[in-house]
Amino acid sequence: MKASRRSMKMNYAIRQVTIPADEMEAKGAEVIRMNIGDPNKWDFETPEYFKAALREAVDMVDNGYGDSQGSPELREAITDREFEKHGARISADDVIVTNGVSESVQVLLGTMLEPGDEVLVPGPGYPSYTQYINYFDAKPVSYEQVEGEDWQPDIDMMRERINERTRAIVVINPNNPTGAVYPEKAVREIADLAAENDLPVISDEIYDKITFDTPFFSFSRTSPDVKKIIMNGFSKVNLMPGWRVGYSYFMDDSGDMDEIFEGCMRQLRARLCPNVPCQWAARAALQGPQDYINELTGKLSARADYSYKRLNDIPGISARKAKGSMFMFPRVEADLWKSDMDFILDVLWGTGVLFVPGSGFCEEFGRNHFRTIILPDIPILEKAYDKLEVFMAGRMKKV
Ligand SMILES: Cc1ncc(COP(=O)(O)O)c(C=O)c1O
Repeated sequence: MKASRRSMKMNYAIRQVTIPADEMEAKGAEVIRMNIGDPNKWDFETPEYFKAALREAVDMVDNGYGDSQGSPELREAITDREFEKHGARISADDVIVTNGVSESVQVLLGTMLEPGDEVLVPGPGYPSYTQYINYFDAKPVSYEQVEGEDWQPDIDMMRERINERTRAIVVINPNNPTGAVYPEKAVREIADLAAENDLPVISDEIYDKITFDTPFFSFSRTSPDVKKIIMNGFSKVNLMPGWRVGYSYFMDDSGDMDEIFEGCMRQLRARLCPNVPCQWAARAALQGPQDYINELTGKLSARADYSYKRLNDIPGISARKAKGSMFMFPRVEADLWKSDMDFILDVLWGTGVLFVPGSGFCEEFGRNHFRTIILPDIPILEKAYDKLEVFMAGRMKKV
């Protein structure tokens, strides 16, 4: 039986590349997986008191279905968090809890888009957005994040690429895959552009507390004239990616987004509810001690420094330092491979280190790059970059 055209168009590079890596491992080879932004695969642990809350949850909740919009208690805790961290004035009614931010992305785009619509997305950018825009037969239109300017967004290009079919602007800040953190000025300029064109902004802030000596300015702080939907969740900052809890909240004084909110709710009712015990534990995570976040950012910052130095010392590779998130997006200066996928596979087979090809984050602005993570501890990073260094030296010698 034929699969739908829609589903066969999906190609999520971050997990697609695991197929050849799995094959190598099955043959007994060791693979260092630098492809997925999962802190729990490295030396980061879900804090003990979250785990205790999850164990407690199954005794405390009735283990039946919950509210489709998300538990009212968790939504209250999220409004407190967003006010405390970013000054966002929202109520629990504005918040939707989903099975990860991924579900918020799917549901929101499914509500906003008709075939032929366009959405501005950062290039390079986290691929869920482009994948779902394509899935709904709409068109992702990339705006460049300029590598030479520490991956800052090209707002003139954003302006040039808006037309009568544009439905929204997606912002990912701090950014996956580049590690960029946008200054307040850039965030405000994007907000002005959105207001001028009466477009909503979808701002993905899942790495909001993961920055290294660079202040983060949330989109929620921009003018109330801008309609916005902020995405956030517990997978990264709160170290519980497997529990699948994320959320989005609407900020819209105009009432223009009311029907979009209702469209999202109609889809969410059809999927019944988010995981109930995990929502209980997520609430505990927002209300307990937060010092583990300093430990997380402290380690990541040191690993970003190390990765930056090592990558730039490898002939044929250059990289900008990550200012936040869990990633860097190095450029492959050497012009020896047909595509960045060929480069990734050659590195994998030659060294056992798995990266993600840059074009998986944007065909137009991601080519000749790869995404790496800054999550492993320094001895593992050292091993991976030693292998990459030897590999590159060997390839460059052949030219
Ligand atoms: C920018 C961004 N948004 C969303 C997600 C997905 O998050 P979740 O685990 O909450 O579905 C990721 C995961 O890597 C991400 O990098």
